[in-house]
Amino acid sequence: MSAVLDRPVNTARLRDFVRNLAALLDEPSDEAVILARGSALLAELVGQDDWLPEAYAVPSAERYQQYLLHCDSAERFSVVSFVWGPGQGTPIHDHTVWGLVGVLRGAERAENFTRLDDGSLVESTVGELRPGDVEALSPTAGDIHRVSNALSDASSISIHVYGGNIGAVRRSTFAPDGTPKLFISGYANDAVPNLWDRSK
Ligand code: FE2
Repeated sequence: MSAVLDRPVNTARLRDFVRNLAALLDEPSDEAVILARGSALLAELVGQDDWLPEAYAVPSAERYQQYLLHCDSAERFSVVSFVWGPGQGTPIHDHTVWGLVGVLRGAERAENFTRLDDGSLVESTVGELRPGDVEALSPTAGDIHRVSNALSDASSISIHVYGGNIGAVRRSTFAPDGTPKLFISGYANDAVPNLWDRSK
């Protein structure tokens, strides 16, 4: 993966986010506290657009890109850059771990679904997130959704944080009738950003 940088990249922001989130998870906290305080940390991160290395902001014409930016050494959390080409989006899916979604560039459309007792899905809410906005997802409250680029003529980038190594989590996609299918997303990249060179 090569990158052409036309501006300095402030990777310290991502390093600080990772350290602060790890410190939050070191404390015994319930999920509601993690989501509330994690949302504030993510809002701070996506409130500035000077830290994402260009290699992790590149769209693909074929499908949305899911670049791992960092995975906690105990796989307690992962940070992922989603890069959406015009019109691209996910199938309906769940996560099975808590999640935070923050928009860095462009706009993301989020459609949330409720699964009824008979297994069928009903769309419950639809929202649009803009740069700086953060939304939380909880498997306890229901975490089935479909996300997509809200822009039809430009790329969008959102930063997602999950309570596990999301690319390796065994979870589900859902057909429109609610039929689940095993889904392990993986990642688009083989190398992660170097957050730890403090010489510069
Ligand atoms: Fe998702």
